[in-house]
Amino acid sequence: MCGIVGFTGSEQAAPILLDGLKRLEYRGYDSAGIAVTNDNQINTIKASGQLVNLINKASDSDVSGLCGIGHTRWATHGAPTDTNAHPHISNDRMFAVVHNGIIENYAELRDELIEKGYHFDSETDTEVVVHLLEYYYKGNMRKALIKTVSKLEGSYALGVICSDFPDEIYTAKLGSPLIIGVGVGENFFASDATALISHTKNVIYLEDGEISRITPDKVEVFDCTSATINKTVSRIVWNIESAEKGGYEHFMLKEIMEQPKALESTIKPNIRDGKVNFDGLNDLKSNIKDFTKIVITACGSAYHAGCVGRYVIEELCRLPVQTELASELRYRNPIIDEHTLLIAISQSGETADTIAAMKECKNRGATVLSIVNVVGSTISKLSDFVIYTWAGPEIAVATTKGYITQIAILDMLALWFADNLNLIDEKLYTDLISDIHTLPERVQRALDLNPHITSLAKKCSSNNSIFFIGRNIDYAVCMEGSLKLKEISYIQSESYAAGELKHGTIALIDDSSLVVAASCQEQLFDKMMSNIKEVKTRGANVLAVALEHNSRIYKEADNVLVVPSTNPLLVAIPEIVPLQLFSYYIAKERGCDIDKPKNLAKSVTVE
Ligand code: F6R
Repeated sequence: MCGIVGFTGSEQAAPILLDGLKRLEYRGYDSAGIAVTNDNQINTIKASGQLVNLINKASDSDVSGLCGIGHTRWATHGAPTDTNAHPHISNDRMFAVVHNGIIENYAELRDELIEKGYHFDSETDTEVVVHLLEYYYKGNMRKALIKTVSKLEGSYALGVICSDFPDEIYTAKLGSPLIIGVGVGENFFASDATALISHTKNVIYLEDGEISRITPDKVEVFDCTSATINKTVSRIVWNIESAEKGGYEHFMLKEIMEQPKALESTIKPNIRDGKVNFDGLNDLKSNIKDFTKIVITACGSAYHAGCVGRYVIEELCRLPVQTELASELRYRNPIIDEHTLLIAISQSGETADTIAAMKECKNRGATVLSIVNVVGSTISKLSDFVIYTWAGPEIAVATTKGYITQIAILDMLALWFADNLNLIDEKLYTDLISDIHTLPERVQRALDLNPHITSLAKKCSSNNSIFFIGRNIDYAVCMEGSLKLKEISYIQSESYAAGELKHGTIALIDDSSLVVAASCQEQLFDKMMSNIKEVKTRGANVLAVALEHNSRIYKEADNVLVVPSTNPLLVAIPEIVPLQLFSYYIAKERGCDIDKPKNLAKSVTVE
């Protein structure tokens, strides 16, 4: 969704802002703009559509100056036009604002401001902010900003420049991410670290309710009473190469290929001396017996990871586990109390529905443990306990390494619970630990085992609809396989529990159908063979996903994607890999914009 960036220093701001916006493109956007201060004057340029439109406009305009702010907009209030693009500028042209989030009470504020004589150019919720600044400004920017944000309801990460202070930027944050990059003689802010990493690895994570004043030499942070807050500077652990394509045609392919490494980085720090050891969970150990159930909540692929986790945790811990879509959980009247452990899963750590579901469950007494990829994100901060996936930055909109590392954490968490509840015998525990250690290799093998995927994808790319069927963990993997395919290739695709087919969906199967049959759960293989026969009888073409050395599958399936054998509880991790590649090559065959599928955003910070 929207991305924001800002720079103040001794170089021209516009190229730095445009480069920052380029790095934020992956978040999803439909217009962009920058504003730069020069000689007590603010110049803005904005353009709808791709960033290249803005870059072209910038080369024809005068946007010189050493301090500025930029924005990529994912339209919510008002169409993606030049006028609705940020930055928005005050009527007296003294202030420019970029905003990530939603001002929920904007309609009421807009009416009040119109009554006071302000005129609005755009249809956005954001424009109220810039007029409020003008209204409250009496020569002191900090005071004007504090007064302005006190009027706002909703969520915001704001970047503000004022023509009275040509080398200063002000920021404010509530519920949307904002990071300050600390350089030497230059400072930055952005909605995420990818926009800063080429300039500095030293960052300050702004907390909700904090505002900052950023000059080339100084970063000051204040609370809403104007009191100074001493912040620590953190160091980003990954490097610029992680946020670049490194020779791959798409970030998605690069990230698929990075999965063995991402898994290793996620698994290694949490297994020591043959035991799962989550450093951050020591305080949870003492009350682990008080939990009567676990609720896992998330959206999209993270929800699918949770669906896998449910099977594994229930199997090993014999504790009831529900996996709930956050967008549903937040509006139910869920049966959740202080005996519930809520596990929230999120790559970005900023997903609005997941945040709302967490808050709802927290209010009902649940303990919240989150599994998050982005350090310092909103979800990590709202949680009682956090476990990080160490997948590194994920740029492609469709998650791959984020999802796979979430499952790795859930697998280890299941073992950790089972061990701390004394529910697992030593042999099974030791076997699973050594199987977890080999997951990076198995994923590498899954990448290597399927050279026929490209030609298979070519053959299947003209299908209008593809069904995914599976049972148990295979079914959870089908949900993710089907989502991957539809989001990047735009082929209609659904996943079904294989046993449910005959209760309705089989009516759709005919000789034009392609059915992907995930069949890696050996204990259910015969059942899957029956389902495969059912759809074949009705003319379907079957692409099976099966364990290597399973020769029986070749009797029924038309084609097979091969998965290296592993413990059935852990198989989701290597099993998703050929399905990711299958989706990728189909989307490529169809000429789709793989890294930025239409209508999608990487970080879904609105409901
Ligand atoms: C699909 C995908 C989305 C996300 C979902 C949750 O490929 O990436 O379905 O999984 O939007 O996002 P996070 O994990 O950031 O909370």
